[in-house]
Amino acid sequence: MVSEIVDTTDEWITSRTGIKTRYVSTTETLLDLAVEASKKALASAGIESKDLDMIICSTIKGDYVTPSMACLIQRDIEAKCPSFDFNAACSGFVYGLDMADAYIRAGKAETILLVSAEAMTRHIDWTDRATCVLFGDGAGAVVLKKGDGLRSIKITAKGDDKLLVIGSVFSPSPFAKQPQIDPAFRMNGGEVFKFAVSSVIKDVKQVMKEAGVEAKDIAMMVPHQANLRVFQAARDKLGFTDEQIANGIDHYGNTSSASIPLLLDELMEQGRLVKGDLIVLTAFGGGLTTGACVIKL
Ligand code: COA
Repeated sequence: MVSEIVDTTDEWITSRTGIKTRYVSTTETLLDLAVEASKKALASAGIESKDLDMIICSTIKGDYVTPSMACLIQRDIEAKCPSFDFNAACSGFVYGLDMADAYIRAGKAETILLVSAEAMTRHIDWTDRATCVLFGDGAGAVVLKKGDGLRSIKITAKGDDKLLVIGSVFSPSPFAKQPQIDPAFRMNGGEVFKFAVSSVIKDVKQVMKEAGVEAKDIAMMVPHQANLRVFQAARDKLGFTDEQIANGIDHYGNTSSASIPLLLDELMEQGRLVKGDLIVLTAFGGGLTTGACVIKL
């Protein structure tokens, strides 16, 4: 119980964020989660790992600085292809879709495994009640191939290290003159909240316009799961009903870039999303980055 660690209550967390439960890795490595998600994605796509042309992994930090998560996923699923990580924080899954689309369109790859793997609970300050109640760990993966499913996509960045930051710890050096940087997650929640709501509204309106679709055409909007209130605040401006907005924050918490693919997997498994549905994805996070897209499944 987190209320035994910091001064908080279930009522406060639920009413301010929508979070009820979340998962914290204890014995598992992040690679364990990523490999399991990758194998599941390959099996459901009916693709063998030897047929992958590329593995891209979005993560704010893998188990190692190097080798990358993607290289170790490649080893563990027995693939043979270029593999690399990138960091676009919570927008990583949408950034990854954009990157994969570019490789496929350029003819440099036909089949790409995109994995989003995040161990956010390693980076939080468990004495800071404003942030330690928000995050969970998880990994999700998709297999991407050439097709016309991606109807529109947009990614943005606005360089900022004031509103949301996680520092690095470096090896001690007799030459270093810089002060040690606080390695824990720090966030100005109120300002990030405002940024999130305005970005979701702006990005989603733009990608829907570019795709030539309206809210009534969309089966579901699957947003990055950061706070239920962000989507309630954006809902009316976008013309969606509550039923059209996917919610996994209650049982996953904020799992950064893994939150969208985790939820997509669950919605497909439950039959709440089916082939042919039009969906909107929208994400925002550290950087500050944002991304949104319209996809026909
Ligand atoms: N339990 C109980 N009280 C808490 C608390 C907790 N876990 N965390 C903060 N509080 C208190 C504060 O100390 C403050 O008390 P005060 O009024 O006496 O000063 C009060 O609750 C309100 O704090 P505030 O920070 O204004 O709450 P909030 O409604 O803005 O909710 C967040 C905080 C973090 C949940 C919210 O700002 C948020 O979700 N922001 C966006 C986060 C986000 O999208 N991040 C994306 C990262 S990818």
